[in-house]
Amino acid sequence: MSDPSKAVRAPRGMPDLLGPSLQRLEAFERTGLRVLARHGFREMRTPLLEEARLFARAAGETSEIVEKQMFLVPAAEGEPFALRPEGTPGVVRAFLEHSLGKQRPFVKVSYAGPMFRYERPQAARQRQFHQVGAEAFGSADPLVDVDSILAGAAVLREAGLKSFRTRINTIGCSNCRPVLREAIRKAALAAGDRLCPACRARLDRNPLRFLDCKEPGCREAAKAVPPPEELVCGECRTHFGAVRAGLSALEEPFTADPRLVRGLDYYTRTVFEFTVPELGARDAVGGGGRYDDLVEQMGGPPTPVVGFALGAEAALLALEKTGAAVEVPPAPEAEVFVVVPEGTGRLAALRLAREVRALGVSADLDLEGRSMKSQMRSADRAGARVALLLGPDEESRGTVRWKPLRGGGSEEDLPRAEALKRLQPRTAP
Ligand code: HAM
Repeated sequence: MSDPSKAVRAPRGMPDLLGPSLQRLEAFERTGLRVLARHGFREMRTPLLEEARLFARAAGETSEIVEKQMFLVPAAEGEPFALRPEGTPGVVRAFLEHSLGKQRPFVKVSYAGPMFRYERPQAARQRQFHQVGAEAFGSADPLVDVDSILAGAAVLREAGLKSFRTRINTIGCSNCRPVLREAIRKAALAAGDRLCPACRARLDRNPLRFLDCKEPGCREAAKAVPPPEELVCGECRTHFGAVRAGLSALEEPFTADPRLVRGLDYYTRTVFEFTVPELGARDAVGGGGRYDDLVEQMGGPPTPVVGFALGAEAALLALEKTGAAVEVPPAPEAEVFVVVPEGTGRLAALRLAREVRALGVSADLDLEGRSMKSQMRSADRAGARVALLLGPDEESRGTVRWKPLRGGGSEEDLPRAEALKRLQPRTAP
């Protein structure tokens, strides 16, 4: 039995969202989906829970996410579920389940929402965090990689982030990956004792991570690996060249980084990351790449795809750290507050509030029968623009007392219809 005197708290790394932190997160998600819609992506919502084997198949059995970071949920019968650690596998599953590829040759999907990874919580690293992502199905053209990078960068810029770096690399395709893996394995083996335990453990299964290992011994030894661009096949090299040329021609800043690899196994050819140095060791505000084999591996027809996801918490922290965060003025809880004399007219107040709300204007009231003074205090606390006072005299005359609280103007008696008209939101011509 749990100790009943001990308060129940939110799970570690899963903070409640309220007040300004919720407002900022919502603003980031809204901006993201809006900018992505402008780039031709249409929103999709997939379940927060999927069969665990979906993630193992997609991200790879040896990826850190699947090995160590999944929140598993046992099912009463059948396959266990997992809280989604990322959005891509669910979107690919839905793409196949709804045969979206049969309806159009190109399908562009966006998404925003919570993801779950069992990580050690730290600045901008949570166990429940939020991503805004995009996946473009159906084209192997390097210009689609360019468009995807442009879309991610556009979201970050529109969210206010000015100083981020875009790093890109190629990690080859299923044909040339063995060559790349072998070159990396050889360099890692040559490092002998200097190799960190994590790299040693994954040397055979997943040697690519050695390239971006931060341990000094590994970093030194990784210098012996030629840039992947020189090891991959001719087609992958041409593809990478076209991505670089496209970004350059469009004057989208980027750095080709031969050490960049990603933590998920499904990538082929182009990988990229958006980073902000002010974030320290975990500096990525987003990342993505091409994954041309995943749809087929999951039982679908060969379908090249490229996509990315931005971490909302990381991007918001980056905004703060780079001094680009803008104060969001708290939204008023109610624009209008209805006030009635102490202990009377509560039903009439509710009727008036209902009429205001029907106009599409927020209205609130204090139904506790307190003094008018304390109701006015509540009106102020709610950030109301105007208080509407409604006593028995006003009721019988069909008027209300209009008391501006913000933005100037004088107190006056108005016919009820006139007051409502004044509150009516002006529609754009
Ligand atoms: P990812 O690099 O694992 O990629 O995650 C993208 C971003 O999510 C990261 O750059 C980071 O900002 C944020 N993020 C990841 N883990 C956490 C965490 N524990 N707490 C806070 N933020 C976090 C993917 O998820 C791929 N699905 C991206 C993709 C889409 N590739 C192709 N399509």
